[in-house]
Amino acid sequence: LLSQIGPDAHMRMILRKPPGQRTVDDLEIIYEELIHIKALSHLSTTVKRELAGVLIFESHPKAGTVLFNQGEEGTSWYIILKGSVNVVIYGKGVVCTLHEGDDFGKLALVNDAPRAASIVLREDNCHFLRVDKEDFNRILRDVEANTVRLKEHDQDVLVLEKIPAGNRASNQGNSQPQHKYIVMSGTPEKILEHFLETMRLESTVNEATDSVLNDFVLMHCVFMPNSQLCPALMAQYPFGSEQEKLDYAINNKKRVIRLVLQWAALYGDLLQEDEAALAFLEEFYVSVSDDTRMIAALKEQLPELEKVVKQISEEGKTPQKKHKVLLQLFNTTDDRAQKRQPIRGSDEILFKVYCIDHTYTTIRVPVLSSVKEVISAVTDKLGSGEGLIIVKMSSGGEKVVLKPNDVSVFTTLTVNGRLFACPRDQFDSLTPLPEQEGPSTGTVGTFELMSSKDLAYQMTIYDWELFNCVHELELIYHTFGRHHFKKTTANLDLFLRRFNEIQFWVVTEISLCSQLSKRVQLLKKYIKIAAHCKEYKNLNSFFAIIMGLSNVAVSRLTLTWERMIANTIRTVKFCRSQSFNPDAVLTNKNHQDVRSYVRQLNVIDNQRTLSQMSHRLEPRRA
Ligand code: CMP
Repeated sequence: LLSQIGPDAHMRMILRKPPGQRTVDDLEIIYEELIHIKALSHLSTTVKRELAGVLIFESHPKAGTVLFNQGEEGTSWYIILKGSVNVVIYGKGVVCTLHEGDDFGKLALVNDAPRAASIVLREDNCHFLRVDKEDFNRILRDVEANTVRLKEHDQDVLVLEKIPAGNRASNQGNSQPQHKYIVMSGTPEKILEHFLETMRLESTVNEATDSVLNDFVLMHCVFMPNSQLCPALMAQYPFGSEQEKLDYAINNKKRVIRLVLQWAALYGDLLQEDEAALAFLEEFYVSVSDDTRMIAALKEQLPELEKVVKQISEEGKTPQKKHKVLLQLFNTTDDRAQKRQPIRGSDEILFKVYCIDHTYTTIRVPVLSSVKEVISAVTDKLGSGEGLIIVKMSSGGEKVVLKPNDVSVFTTLTVNGRLFACPRDQFDSLTPLPEQEGPSTGTVGTFELMSSKDLAYQMTIYDWELFNCVHELELIYHTFGRHHFKKTTANLDLFLRRFNEIQFWVVTEISLCSQLSKRVQLLKKYIKIAAHCKEYKNLNSFFAIIMGLSNVAVSRLTLTWERMIANTIRTVKFCRSQSFNPDAVLTNKNHQDVRSYVRQLNVIDNQRTLSQMSHRLEPRRA
């Protein structure tokens, strides 16, 4: 027994000495002890030796003692030598218990955030090793473990990983950390909680905060749909208001309001399609305005919130904002009259669905309809027809049976693609419509009279209209699979589709032009249009035309290109007569390496091998 108490008591005595008074022997004894501590096992010998000089012993006699409170500024990091503590979160209570060898209190230090939880002693007579903030920052901040796992009730609720802090942080004074923790995974609610905790309200760091905030608001739908986010925000809002820590509660409220404002701004009109979200917004507004009577600090944000709520709920009521009816070509009936409006999921479309004998029925359904709903609309129209399937047919006769949950079926068709409906056993006999083949005569006659500049200008205006209608969220729905979100990507689809349309326009017109001299004119015309598009900074149409021209159907027309060679030679001659004055700084010490690197690229040039490798990296999704 003595041998156990003995060294322990000696250790404590040494550790109680102010760091400046520790002798070399003391440090050696502490170091020997540190080797056995789990929380330090990943650290190097050097770091442990440095720690031996700064670690402070702290003990508390009574269970229930609060070591620190959630929301406070973090001043130290702790390791438990003896005993255990509860991790307590407002509104949740005890979320986990930490024991001998565990550590806590690192998050607030590394992220410069308030304490994410309170720490309460679970038993009498607990012993800790403490490292204060300044020492922690100097010795540990950048060598700390790469991963932090937070548990609640024995489940990982948040996994954070250390990354180098970006440049944005580095120009804000020299005390900035080299690293910070970012979220790798976690439960949606805990991610939200953590996000609110680490959000800055001060105006000086707004730019960085805003971009993180934007990312969250934009991406949350991937892991936390509005139906989950809204209640979670509501739960975070009254957060802690009955606690003694009113300051913290107010700050948290401010953060939630800020997040809600940004969220509402991103969704804008789209919120009108989401009744639960609208209801949340109104309820939230009521809570905040109630609060402002008691808490003056919240008054500042109220007018903005009021404006947003009013605007969104009123716009929903004006008739022209209600849903539109789109025709097969995705125009509205009164397209000429007004500027193009973004297509919304609730807009209806009049769309032809073909049968095996090439007759069709016109259905009228919301743009967002799933294939299942399209099937039922067609079945209704036909009056019979159990077990129909919907088939996407390309002009080349490629057929794909659409899955019941697919959405955006209308806008993701290929340029001349059509939808067919038939009983499953007729699938093999389906053939494309003659009209899918496209025109048999070109339109040069018409557009050779138009100036290339005008054409490019009008193309750019149209591209811009289409582009302008694409909401950022559509990119997310598109990337992560729109059927997961049950949201339309129609505007993005149409924008992408336009690119293909222009490519095929170029190839079609040139291929339909039988006279060689005309063809040469046409080729020149396209090159001019492309140049004008580039002038208008419309790289979309520019590349579409260039890709059209490089389509083998065009690029193999050697006779046509040969006639243009004189022009090309003139251009080459002109270009070579120019001098090249790169303004790059050549003082960079490794520019020799860069120079030789770029001159000796080693590549695989077998497209089949490359595709195989690609599929090995990321197999097709089921
Ligand atoms: P910090 O935010 O500095 O202070 C409270 C500490 O509690 C926190 O760092 C973590 O080290 C620790 N902790 C353990 N589990 C959790 C949890 N589930 N949520 C938040 N903090 C936790």
